[in-house]
Amino acid sequence: MITSKSPGMLLRVLYLFAVLDAACLLDTGMLFPRESSSREVKELNGLWSFRADKSPNRNQGFERAWYKSRLVETGPVIDMPVPASYNDVTQDPTLRDFTGWVWYEREVVVPSRWITDKGTRVVLRVGSAHYNSIVWLNGVKVTEHKGGHLPFEAEIGSLIREDPTMPCRITIAVNNTLNLDTLPPGSIQYLNDPTRYPDGFFVQNYYFDFFNYAGIHRPVLLYTTPKAYVDDITVVTDFLDNTGMVKYEVSVQGAAKATLKVTLMDKDGRCVASSDETSGVLKVADVNLWWPYLMHDNPAYLYSMEVRLMAADARATYEDVYTLPVGIRTVKVTNTQFLINNKPFYFHGVNKHEDSDIRGKGLDWPLIVKDFNLIKWLGANSFRTSHYPYAEEIMQMCDRHGIVVIDECPGVGIKDIRSFGNASLAHHLVVMEELVRRDKNHPSVVMWSVANEPAAEMPPAGYYFKTLIEHTKALDPTRPVTYITDSNYARDKGAPYVDVICVNSYFSWYHDPGHIEVIPIQLNTQFENWYGKYQKPIIQSEYGADAVPGLHSDPPMMFTEEYQNVVLESYHNVFDQKRKQYVIGELIWNFADFMTAQGITRVVGNKKGIFSRQRQPKSAAFILKERYWRLANATGRLPPWAKYPCSL
Ligand SMILES: *[C@@H]1O[C@H](CO)[C@@H](O)[C@H](O)[C@H]1NC(C)=O
Ligand SMILES: *[C@@H]1O[C@H](CO)[C@@H](O)[C@H](O)[C@H]1NC(C)=O
Ligand SMILES: *[C@@H]1O[C@H](CO)[C@@H](O)[C@H](O)[C@H]1NC(C)=O
Repeated sequence: MITSKSPGMLLRVLYLFAVLDAACLLDTGMLFPRESSSREVKELNGLWSFRADKSPNRNQGFERAWYKSRLVETGPVIDMPVPASYNDVTQDPTLRDFTGWVWYEREVVVPSRWITDKGTRVVLRVGSAHYNSIVWLNGVKVTEHKGGHLPFEAEIGSLIREDPTMPCRITIAVNNTLNLDTLPPGSIQYLNDPTRYPDGFFVQNYYFDFFNYAGIHRPVLLYTTPKAYVDDITVVTDFLDNTGMVKYEVSVQGAAKATLKVTLMDKDGRCVASSDETSGVLKVADVNLWWPYLMHDNPAYLYSMEVRLMAADARATYEDVYTLPVGIRTVKVTNTQFLINNKPFYFHGVNKHEDSDIRGKGLDWPLIVKDFNLIKWLGANSFRTSHYPYAEEIMQMCDRHGIVVIDECPGVGIKDIRSFGNASLAHHLVVMEELVRRDKNHPSVVMWSVANEPAAEMPPAGYYFKTLIEHTKALDPTRPVTYITDSNYARDKGAPYVDVICVNSYFSWYHDPGHIEVIPIQLNTQFENWYGKYQKPIIQSEYGADAVPGLHSDPPMMFTEEYQNVVLESYHNVFDQKRKQYVIGELIWNFADFMTAQGITRVVGNKKGIFSRQRQPKSAAFILKERYWRLANATGRLPPWAKYPCSL
């Protein structure tokens, strides 16, 4: 198998084997659909037919089986773009604030060769839909999925072959209702007083501060694979001196016996290692490690791993080709440091949202590219996917650009004690399985976050987070696990189980509003308390203040740009003392303004962005830009093109 003269190398290889044994518990993979010589992709983005079920119990669509015929035959339909949230695209306030089932439908022309070739699998894939989804093909249910931010798919080949003359009609019903067991949780409240509320009045309550956008948020597509195919690939990487190691495991479906050819290629397409085994370790001489940008002159180096599968049955032979980008890097946490490739990494980054005007949370390429350009303009080296997994397309951008990611699941707003019950926990474990399955191979992902600001002082939180974090570590022993806390350091029941303490605080905002002078004292105390109790490195995972763009006052007052500036600067002074000890990062809340539920503290959304929702800078953006480039110079390495960051 593996021979090595170096005991260090052998130990590392054994370690890699041990960690790969902790396979995912879900029984199939969820590889990103990529075209290859054996795979075709057909995007179904564009206009779909749409109807919200506004019947009092929201159940008419099921009672009248809207999935059985064309949607237009059972009532009026409107145009609805996919991918997009449906909330902001019409002038109808009842659709913006709708809770319940909405119905999407689209007919697809399937290439005839997909139908005639029985050796082809045809898969329907939804990148994400919020929250509960049911999918039918020509009136036959093909899959359902719970959860708003992760992909799901169904094989539809046999159904489309039943009657090749029939158009292929895809119906997707999506329900955005949040209850105590969903992630994020929420509750429905019925208000029955006829002197105060109209008949049938109910509201969706939730305990997180962003708008509950809904709909089909990410691309829907059809893709093919041969009948025998590469179902999943897991890679774990390490290095010793200048030899890289890629431990991989390929899972094959549709063939009892298959021959594999695994080839690792460098950036120029040259083969650097290969193997015929379904699992093994590829060794790479003179390795180019994957480095975050601002840490190395040659950042974000990606190899590509081509997996070629050959199989045969009585009828035919099959060849499947799948190519996975691979970044070779390691991640470690000590008492005081976060190490990437054994070098200390300081997170100077942002928290984001998938949020934009009109499209809501719908995947939007111009917005994605603009945001990456702004992240680099700012000199940010990292972000957290607050407060749910972002599109896979965004994670791929992070791999390619060397942006480091704390990958957060949708465990936000777990505040009600009933949401710590075992039904909620069971669902939370599955969501972590789905998230790790989807994102495990991204070099940019350096840590999992299992929740944001849960009520971690409640008695059941200890068992809940112990179980959740142990499960996540079993799924992926290579990455640290955290959750983001705003609890009291002494009473937080989950903190003993995390690898890195991530703390949110809003001194002089939600507490002692207007009193900037408390920040140095309170922030210093916060850090000393947490480090004193746990001796774990700390990230300030949120801090900030609302600023309505263009609102000014001197001396600074809350909601002005000046107040946001002085809050940030007061925090920065303390960070600069503590980052030489055990503070390993700072993530501003928030990158850009974003929509929230309506309420007395929000003026058309949350204004804590350093950019407006239209991605124009507030004055705080320039303060942060100056700071981040200085930090990049102090803790990392400025790239040659950033010699004069101020003129960028
Ligand atoms: C769908 O929405 C309605 C209205 O909020 C709710 O009563 C029902 O429980 C939801 N069903 C599912 C499966 O989410
Ligand atoms: C959840 O399950 C665990 C293990 O079976 C059990 O000890 C605990 O009492 C359960 N908690 C609740 C709230 O039912
Ligand atoms: C980076 O830091 C060095 C040493 O402190 C300093 O001399 C240099 O001017 C800095 N470069 C930039 C571009 O800020």
